[in-house]
Amino acid sequence: MRKVFIKTYGCQMNERDSEAVHSSLKSQGYDMVDSESLADVIILNTCSVRELAELKALGKLAYLARRDVVLGVIGCMAKNLAEEIKRRVPGVNIILGPGNYSRIGDCIEDIASRRKSFIIQVDRAESDGAMDSMHSVRQKQSSAFVSIMSGCNMKCSYCIVPKTRGAERHRSMDDIITEISALAAKGVKEVILLGQIVNRYGFRHIKQKNGKSAFVQLLEKIHNLPGIQRIRFISPHPVGFRRDLIDCYKNLPKLCPQVHLPAQSGSDRILKAMMRAYTRDGFMEIVQALRDAVPTMSISTDLIVGFPGENEDDFLETCSLFDEARFDMAFIFKYSSRSGTAAAAMPNQVPQPVKEQRNSVLLKKLEVYSKAYNDKMLNTLQSVLVEGRAKRGEAMFQGRAANHRKVLFPGDDSDVGEFVDVRITSSAVTTLYGEKVQP
Ligand code: 5AD
Ligand code: SF4
Repeated sequence: MRKVFIKTYGCQMNERDSEAVHSSLKSQGYDMVDSESLADVIILNTCSVRELAELKALGKLAYLARRDVVLGVIGCMAKNLAEEIKRRVPGVNIILGPGNYSRIGDCIEDIASRRKSFIIQVDRAESDGAMDSMHSVRQKQSSAFVSIMSGCNMKCSYCIVPKTRGAERHRSMDDIITEISALAAKGVKEVILLGQIVNRYGFRHIKQKNGKSAFVQLLEKIHNLPGIQRIRFISPHPVGFRRDLIDCYKNLPKLCPQVHLPAQSGSDRILKAMMRAYTRDGFMEIVQALRDAVPTMSISTDLIVGFPGENEDDFLETCSLFDEARFDMAFIFKYSSRSGTAAAAMPNQVPQPVKEQRNSVLLKKLEVYSKAYNDKMLNTLQSVLVEGRAKRGEAMFQGRAANHRKVLFPGDDSDVGEFVDVRITSSAVTTLYGEKVQP
């Protein structure tokens, strides 16, 4: 039996795709293994959002190409750099872009049986969507990703995603509800809805109802499903984050008090150059409305430092946005020029040392706000959905509070996949510690 190992880089969308590929190959009789040294088929699911991610994956491919394995590249880099991969790493056998994964088993067979030595398919195949609802739910798995839409019609000037993932596509509500009901029947308690811009779900195809967007209608339907106890989503866009969605945090108790809302910059001038279509004030209005709805809400963000033309004043605006919004979690990225995007051709590219310096200023802020947020949770009782054993500490288990903060506590294997009440006794920058409280 062929042994397959999949390594995933990048975003949750890639994790979700890897899970679908895993499930599809398993059902075709492949033996899915957890270590690349055991495998005779290795697939890298890659990311192109920043150059560094691509360089890492290319290095890894070159290293793996020396082994006698079937070597495949899928994901955004497969689409973005297909020709370069073919030229620079001749040992690669399979290159499949997003939307072409339903044939992956056949491709592996063709290569392994030596019928073919190289297969490439980067233009989206019609079979796209065939794998949308494929999951490999493990025993006692409590949480699952559900892709509701993919692709992106925005034109953020720095971003490669519209090129690698193509135009927006939306699944039907019925499909999504059927999938989530099946997950709930298998014991899944939490769903994380995925999309490049989740809140644009059904934007063009599904009519508003009583002032509620298609996305809000979907949230309400999921909320009605028995078994599902927590709902999260990533990532929304500030454009389209309206009152109807904010009200959900008051009206839908299963919707977790946590939002990841990418700001990218605090400077209106830079937001405009990024083609983000909102202002700093508009962004802060959403943050304020969310905090008014749920004062303890966790609000996290993505920020880019060193976008072309970003001067010291622009950067200070991003710093003050951070202070005003008090993000308790943030992914801070140094701008990376991506060929083919509008920003790559802009003048005044920012030197690397300046990006590094701005990055470290924001990281320090993050540490302060993350710790302050965690400190406020001290002595509170949190319902923790337990993921499994913690990496360190004997008999230590880890899970997520409703606000998605990581909580560690002494527990036992029977807690895995269940909700456990934990009193928070101490806090660090990213993690909380506590003791189980008997209900
Ligand atoms: N350079 C740096 N960061 C980027 N992102 C997207 N494109 C780039 C780029 N070219 C960041 C954005 C986005 C996150 C997924 O990655 O902040 O929200
Ligand atoms: Fe990129 Fe903007 Fe689309 Fe997000 S919304 S994937 S940042 S183009």
